Amino acid sequence: MTAYDLAIIGLGYVGMPLAKEATAAGLRVIGFEVDPGKIAALNAGRSYIDDLTDADLEHMLAGGFTATGDESVLADSRTIVICVPTPLDEDHRPDLSAVEGATGTVARNLRAGSLVVLESTTWPGTTDEVARPILEEGSGLTAGTDFHLAFSPERIDPGNPKYGLRNTPKVVGGYTSACKDRAVGFYSQFIEQVVPVSGTREAEMAKLLENTYRHVNIALVNEMAIFCDELGVDLWESIEAAATKPFGFQKFLPGPGVGGHCIPVDPSYLSYTVRKLGYPFRFVELAQEINERMPSYVVARVQRLLNRHRKPVNGSKVLLLGVTYKPDIADERETPALPVARALRELGADLVFTDPYVKDWRVDGVQVPREEDLAKGVVEADVTLLLQQHAAFDLSIIEDQGKLVLDTRGVLAEGERVERL
Ligand SMILES: NC(=O)c1ccc[n+]([C@@H]2O[C@H](COP(=O)([O-])OP(=O)(O)OC[C@H]3O[C@@H](n4cnc5c(N)ncnc54)[C@H](O)[C@@H]3O)[C@@H](O)[C@H]2O)c1
Repeated sequence: MTAYDLAIIGLGYVGMPLAKEATAAGLRVIGFEVDPGKIAALNAGRSYIDDLTDADLEHMLAGGFTATGDESVLADSRTIVICVPTPLDEDHRPDLSAVEGATGTVARNLRAGSLVVLESTTWPGTTDEVARPILEEGSGLTAGTDFHLAFSPERIDPGNPKYGLRNTPKVVGGYTSACKDRAVGFYSQFIEQVVPVSGTREAEMAKLLENTYRHVNIALVNEMAIFCDELGVDLWESIEAAATKPFGFQKFLPGPGVGGHCIPVDPSYLSYTVRKLGYPFRFVELAQEINERMPSYVVARVQRLLNRHRKPVNGSKVLLLGVTYKPDIADERETPALPVARALRELGADLVFTDPYVKDWRVDGVQVPREEDLAKGVVEADVTLLLQQHAAFDLSIIEDQGKLVLDTRGVLAEGERVERL
C-alpha cells in the first residue's frame, strides 16, 4: 500500500483548494512545491491563498496534510495531480516550462499503477504530446498500460462564495478509456459531479472554450461601452434590461480591462494552437485588442472629466479605489489597475489608492501612497476612480462626497459629479 492517496504538484490557487477537499474527504494528501517559502508557510499554518483561511489549513494539517520539497514522496502516491502555472513568455507564447519541469519530476518517481492528472490550463494536445513523452521516457513505463494518464481542467473561481471545487462539475478526459474511468473514480471521491469526455484534447479544449467565451463577451460589452457613451445610451441599463430574457442571453459587464490568469492569458493558448494551422483565431485576437485598450480608454475618460471642470490631469490628485483584478479578494495578477495607474502617472497625476485587501502597492517599483480612510481619500481627491467594487466600500460616501467620480463598474448613481463608464 502506498503512503499517500494523492500528491499535488504546485501548491497555489488551484493546488491548495484541491488539497483541502481531498483531505476533508479522508484522503492522505501530500503537497510537492518548489518554493521553499510556500512550503514553510503552509507547514506553519499560514495560508497565502484567498479561499483558504489559516483555520482551514490548521484543519488540513491536523488531517495529515503536509507540504514538501522532497520529490521522492511522488513514488509513494497512488495519484499525482499537476497544478503548476502556465503563463506566457516575453513574446506572448505559451510557456510550458513549469509543466515540463513538473512532469519530469513525476517521471523520475513514477511507479507502475499510478494515475497522473494534469490540471494546468493549456493548449489542446499538451497532455498527449508534451506530458506523455516526458513521463514515458523518464520512467520507462507506458501510459495506458503501466500507468493511467488524464487531463482535468481546474475551474476554480477565487472568491466565489457559492461555487467551490466540490460543487463545480469536473470535466475529465483520459488518454485511454481506462485512464478516464480511473480519473473519474478518483475525483468522484470528493466532487459531486464528474463529467467524462472522450479524450484529453476535448477536456483541454473545454477549459479554453469557457475562458475564451468570457473573454469575447467581455470585449463585446467593453466595445459597446465606448460607443454607447458617444451615442448617449446608458449601456448598464440596457444590459440589465436584456438580462431579463430568461433564455439565450448571459449578462457580461464592461470594466476597466481584464485581469487574473484565465481571461487575459488562457485564450492566447488557443490562438497559439490555431496559428500553427496557418491562420489566426480572429475572435480571440479582436477581443484581446479591445480588452487591452480599456485601461487607456479609462484614463482618457478621467482626463475628459477633469477637463470639463477646467482641470488638467497634471497635478490633480487621483484616488484609485480597488486595485485587485476581482472584487473581495487580494489577487493582483494582471490587474488593469496597473496600466491605468502607469498612464495616469505619466500624465503627471498625483496618485493615491484605497484597497482593504492590498497593503503595499507598487507601480513599476514605485510605491503608491495608500489611504486607509475611504471618506478622507474621497474628499481630498480631485477625482475618484472606482476600479474595483469591493463590498467593503461604502458607495454612498463616494457618491455624496467625491468631487468628481468615474465609476468603471456601473454601481454608482450618475449625477452632476458622477460618471459611469
Ligand atoms: N488561479 C485560478 O483561478 C485558476 C483557475 C483555473 C485554472 N487555473 C490554472 O491552473 C494552473 C495553476 O494556476 P495557479 O493559479 O494555481 O498558479 P499559482 O502560481 O498560484 O501556483 C502554482 C504553484 O506551482 C509551483 N510550481 C511551479 N513549478 C513547479 C514545479 N516544477 N514543481 C512543483 N511546483 C511548481 C509554484 O511555485 C506555485 O506555488 C494554471 O495553469 C492556471 O491557468 C488557475
